[in-house]
Amino acid sequence: MKFEKLFEPGKIGSTELSNRFVMPPMGTNLGSSEGYVTDGMVEYYRRRAAGGFGLIIIEVCAIDKKGRAITNQTGLWDDDQIPKYKELIYAIHNEGSKVFIQLHHAGRQTVPVQFLD
Ligand SMILES: Cc1cc2nc3c(=O)[nH]c(=O)nc-3n(C[C@H](O)[C@H](O)[C@H](O)COP(=O)(O)O)c2cc1C
Repeated sequence: MKFEKLFEPGKIGSTELSNRFVMPPMGTNLGSSEGYVTDGMVEYYRRRAAGGFGLIIIEVCAIDKKGRAITNQTGLWDDDQIPKYKELIYAIHNEGSKVFIQLHHAGRQTVPVQFLD
């Protein structure tokens, strides 16, 4: 079989992956306009994990409310946002995938402020 290594376990640092399939970060716009992970977003990633990815890199996670690139982009600029992120991560782990997160600030590509407040 070609590419048989893809199905073998792998390691990135101390993180053990069940295979080498990696889902790259892709913004879904499934967050709330306030920047919280939603139930729909949890289910979206749970299903991708159930599909068998060894590693899922969650889409852009804003470090500042005004650093978002899309209007429904989730973030972790406030502790209140942590519980839903935990739910998302547990949902992925429960299906057997590992998770990396992409911390992000859009810089000059931020959404104009009037759409965020
Ligand atoms: C709808 C969509 C959303 C994306 N969102 C992100 C993102 O949040 N972060 C990122 O680094 N790349 C993002 N990308 C880029 C993808 O991760 C990238 O296309 C993927 O790694 C495949 O690489 P390639 O385009 O070089 O083939 C996005 C791509 C698409 C199509």
